[in-house]
Amino acid sequence: MLALFFCNIGSLGMHYSQACVSNITVHNTIIRDSNNQVRIKTWQGGSGSVTGLSFDTIQMKNVLNCIIIDQYYCYKKGCQNETSTISLSEISYRNIKGTYNIRKMPIHFACSDTIACTNITMSEVEIPPHEGDLVADPFCWNTYGIQQTLTVPPIN
Ligand SMILES: *[C@@H]1O[C@H](CO)[C@@H](O)[C@H](O)[C@H]1NC(C)=O
Ligand SMILES: *[C@@H]1O[C@H](CO)[C@@H](O)[C@H](O)[C@H]1NC(C)=O
Ligand SMILES: *[C@@H]1O[C@H](CO)[C@@H](O)[C@H](O)[C@H]1NC(C)=O
Repeated sequence: MLALFFCNIGSLGMHYSQACVSNITVHNTIIRDSNNQVRIKTWQGGSGSVTGLSFDTIQMKNVLNCIIIDQYYCYKKGCQNETSTISLSEISYRNIKGTYNIRKMPIHFACSDTIACTNITMSEVEIPPHEGDLVADPFCWNTYGIQQTLTVPPIN
């Protein structure tokens, strides 16, 4: 079960489909020199929910796109936004440490306009640049929850 999902959940909701994913824990993982790590991606127009995900104790080294939620996933150009969307809630990121590659923003939360992501918990998420300086602040759109400890880089 865990190996099947690894750290990439998605893409869900393609072609207006329904998806329900709940209670998945990913823990004790090491990721290095890689792309798209702890990622959840859903299509606009899908329905259902993703809830109860826990990403716990993950070490990263020189990783692109460390922590991603993309609810606007689309592999072709010109996908429209829809009113229906898969809801995301109860997602926790705990003890995620290491370094990121500055070519991509390390933390990117793009939640749907119609349903916000809720109860997102960040605790001991510390991912400074592998080399060089931070290029942009983490992106956070329609995403709500708590930071139990200050995240590095800081997010609002
Ligand atoms: C997920 O976990 C919650 C809390 O432990 C539980 O109430 C719920 O029934 C679980 N859902 C599934 C689909 O197992
Ligand atoms: C969909 O919504 C997002 C967030 O509001 C916006 O950034 C994006 O431009 C919209 N896409 C289209 C195709 O309208
Ligand atoms: C989400 O968090 C709020 C406050 O932090 C809490 O009241 C609510 O019960 C949580 N929702 C679920 C489904 O646990």
